[in-house]
Amino acid sequence: MRRIAHLSDVHMLDRETRRSTARYRFATKAVSLGRPIDPRGRAKKLSRALDAAKASGADHVVISGDLTEVGDETEFDHFAEVLCDAKLPRESVTLVPGNHDAYTSPGAWKKALAGPLAAWAPSSAEEPGKLVERGGVAFLPIDTSCFQSIARSGGEFTRDAALAVERRLVDPALRHKALVLVLHHPPFAKHRNPAWAWIDALRGGREVIDLLMSHPRVQLLHGHMHRVVDRIVGIGKNAAARARIFGAPATVEDALESMPRVRLYDVRDGALESAGLYAV
Ligand SMILES: [Fe+2]
Repeated sequence: MRRIAHLSDVHMLDRETRRSTARYRFATKAVSLGRPIDPRGRAKKLSRALDAAKASGADHVVISGDLTEVGDETEFDHFAEVLCDAKLPRESVTLVPGNHDAYTSPGAWKKALAGPLAAWAPSSAEEPGKLVERGGVAFLPIDTSCFQSIARSGGEFTRDAALAVERRLVDPALRHKALVLVLHHPPFAKHRNPAWAWIDALRGGREVIDLLMSHPRVQLLHGHMHRVVDRIVGIGKNAAARARIFGAPATVEDALESMPRVRLYDVRDGALESAGLYAV
């Protein structure tokens, strides 16, 4: 495998939002933070981003969470429909859930994987430590979502998840592969304010950083920040140090008048190199 396309934060809505329950309309409005409630527009943005990923020559597509606005069944159905229409090989798509995908019920992600997303379940986040091998790359998709109030947006990387991931990272069978963790939340806080960390941070983020520090061949793809992120792990005194934490912009915030924004990475010598945003 030579190229990975990365998109994130699609925030898909029910196809018929206006006909949905008042509770659904209230919840989606509350968490949309001013984004227009336009099911067709959001579907179009996802469809364009997937077309761009295909046109870029990517061998694999990662969508790093917040696939839906509140994790409603109808939203997962809508997301699956657009993904299916893109006609990407099923094994070439890796999905992880984000905090928005768990606002409706604690079991929404599992239910979606057993239902509308079943075709992509083998290559998407299930139990921690799950490995998705694609040529020279081994993806470790991780579910950091947790059922919580819409007033919070944090995630959780448990000690058990850290142990399960660590077992994979030391597996000699994978020593020639690029190892790529995929999770929705970045392992660092968005803001320094501790109150904000309580609302929004990844609990266990320190464990993720420790894994990256002790395994230099590991890199991480995330969403949640709704913007491009490139971070070097550790102290940045070494000018040759390369970014190993990569965040993708939010597909839901793409403008329909301009090009979709899809991050691309080329795989070289067991490492990901940012190849910029998709461009014709
Ligand atoms: Fe998001």
